[in-house]
Amino acid sequence: MSDDQDNGQDTGRALPERGLPAERVLGDVKALRAGDRPTHGGRLFAYVYDPAVPGLDELAAAAHAGSAHVNGLDPTAFPSLLAMENALVGAAARLLGGGPGTNAPDVVGSVTSGGTESLILAVKAARDARPDVAAPRIAVPVTAHAAFAKAAHYLRVALDPVPVDPVTLRPSAAAVAAAIGPDTVLVACSAPSYAHGVVDPVAEIAAVAAGAGVRCHVDACFGGWTLPWLRRLGEPVPPFDFAVAGVTSISVDLHKYAYAPKGVSVLLHRTPALRAPQFFAYAGWPGYTMVNPVIASTRSGGPIAAAYATLRHLGEDGYLRLAAATRDAVAGLADAVRGTHGLRLLAEPESTVVCFTSTDPTLDLFVLVDELTARGWHTQPQLSYGDLPASVHLTVTAAVAPRVAEFGPDLADAAAAARAAGPVELPAGLTALAATLTPDALTPELVAGLAAALGLGAAVADPGAAAAGGGAGSGPGGAESGPGGGFAPDATVNALLDAAPPALRERLLVEFVGLLQRPTY
Ligand SMILES: Cc1ncc(COP(=O)(O)O)c(C=O)c1O
Repeated sequence: MSDDQDNGQDTGRALPERGLPAERVLGDVKALRAGDRPTHGGRLFAYVYDPAVPGLDELAAAAHAGSAHVNGLDPTAFPSLLAMENALVGAAARLLGGGPGTNAPDVVGSVTSGGTESLILAVKAARDARPDVAAPRIAVPVTAHAAFAKAAHYLRVALDPVPVDPVTLRPSAAAVAAAIGPDTVLVACSAPSYAHGVVDPVAEIAAVAAGAGVRCHVDACFGGWTLPWLRRLGEPVPPFDFAVAGVTSISVDLHKYAYAPKGVSVLLHRTPALRAPQFFAYAGWPGYTMVNPVIASTRSGGPIAAAYATLRHLGEDGYLRLAAATRDAVAGLADAVRGTHGLRLLAEPESTVVCFTSTDPTLDLFVLVDELTARGWHTQPQLSYGDLPASVHLTVTAAVAPRVAEFGPDLADAAAAARAAGPVELPAGLTALAATLTPDALTPELVAGLAAALGLGAAVADPGAAAAGGGAGSGPGGAESGPGGGFAPDATVNALLDAAPPALRERLLVEFVGLLQRPTY
């Protein structure tokens, strides 16, 4: 007997005994989605990129559907995909200082599934270009995206963190030079960094890298599709692309500010020779010879077609207009922060990020984030790291522009409420425990106890229910679980994580997310 139909008790199982009608299934998905953070409406400042262009979602969805079953495994079987991919790479190259008539005329690239894959492949290409180096290393500013650390981990490449100036939040070229050694195969920098939105001194860093004969990757996953338009609008954008000698590769995510649906990034290399070691080919089995430019083998054409449709529909004029709206929204939000007693911009905005910290010990940022959430503003808390204070991150997109006037009063109100509530007080002993516990000492029992102490009991007692209700979070301190999930990190959780050293944060979050990722039956 099927629970789903015969009892009228829907368990939401993915495989009911008897199939359900399409409208019913779509209704179920819609009902599940109701617990998510709002992807549209300009009140979610992370995870999503919304241009608020009428009809764009429908266009992208139609293009996606039309190519969803096309397989990028073999570009000769599906030339449509190859054509769209090459067009996307050409558009990205041209926007980022490459292509005909530039000093980087031979730029080539690949479409990947996202920024992380682009960065992993940039590291792989750099590693495999140097078979002479037995123990390769990469020099990466501490403010660069965590995906570099993931790449280093996956590829068994050592990560040399480059410190940043705590005021400018940028690495100096001298610090990069000091991190380069004989085994360094890649130097990285950000344009801009995700956390603070500041652009690293790319020209100086690339010069240092070139002088040492080392590749230099510019991670423009976040800003590669906004900085060029901001420059055209007259903003003072420093050189960061292929116009800079010594820049060997650049990544730019189309599923961020090109406003394409998720699953598309572009990795560009200055020359085909630089790209060559990115590829993987294997003929040592009796099946088809596998040749993959990217990590995935079978790849859906959906995201590529959707991105292609999005770019063609918006066009240069559209992106310029959206960049102007975003720039104005950034200015308005930054003014709201400046006007709120006890808050300070961590960096003057120079791209599309507003990042602020607290200057008042009675104003706990994590409590403020919760107060903003209660007022319908979903911001991203960032934990303290080294000598960088905890902060609140706002990724600003064009959809925010019409909401800006409402933000200032709500921010002031939320700050007053956070002050009245006072800073988080962790349960007795927990702060000391967090500061002293080593990751290895974290037993499942201890995690369960911690989860219970933090009010995450539902996730522990009934992990299946938690998994059914919420998405798997991944953001430190700002995990993505929606309100329906068993793990919606609040100020208390963030305070605990903030008190813990990074290695313990990692371990705690792995354990908590592991509790969420349990099958439902
Ligand atoms: C600068 C930067 N690099 C890399 C990434 C990773 O991108 P993805 O989440 O698409 O893997 C991000 C994501 O925010 C980013 O901002």
